[in-house]
Amino acid sequence: MSPHDWCEQVGVGEFDNDAYYRVIEKKIIGQRNQFTLAAVEKGTGNLAGYVHCVREEESPTLLTIGCVKVDWEHQGRGLGKLLIAAGEASAAERGWTFADTSLTVLKRNCRARRCYCSRGFEEVPSHGAWPNMQSRRLQ
Ligand SMILES: CC(C)(COP(=O)(O)OP(=O)(O)OC[C@H]1O[C@@H](n2cnc3c(N)ncnc32)[C@H](O)[C@@H]1OP(=O)(O)O)[C@@H](O)C(=O)NCCC(=O)NCCS
Repeated sequence: MSPHDWCEQVGVGEFDNDAYYRVIEKKIIGQRNQFTLAAVEKGTGNLAGYVHCVREEESPTLLTIGCVKVDWEHQGRGLGKLLIAAGEASAAERGWTFADTSLTVLKRNCRARRCYCSRGFEEVPSHGAWPNMQSRRLQ
């Protein structure tokens, strides 16, 4: 069944993939202050996790992890820590000079906080539900 037939069956308009790609290209590719790395499962090619890194113009010595996510099936096996390490390594390869890595996490997200502590992050004192965590860059 072609995408066109499938769309007709369920009564929706056909997706314009080219339009999606153009938006993705415009929004992501070519943005030199951020990048996303994906961890892909061998064999299936499924996405197992990703990390999104940002260099904030106002704090150029800081690498910000905007988001890190590991698919539930792969959690608790070291992938989260690896993704953070890969993000830091890739930022360094791009010539980003940063002294610290920073991320924000919901206070009650104990699993994520344990992952970041295990990777050397320390909580920066704050009063909100979203404490900031920072680590010195590992050489
Ligand atoms: C947070 C997240 C990225 C961690 O990834 P992960 O691959 O599970 O983490 P790791 O296996 O690298 O674990 C590192 C540490 O976290 C802790 N940890 C991981 N999984 C755990 C679990 N299921 N229960 C308790 N602690 C756990 C361990 O202390 C581990 O330390 P160790 O290696 O010294 O034993 C992942 O759980 C996730 O995607 N969660 C949902 C999305 C999310 O909350 N993202 C963060 C938003 S800021």
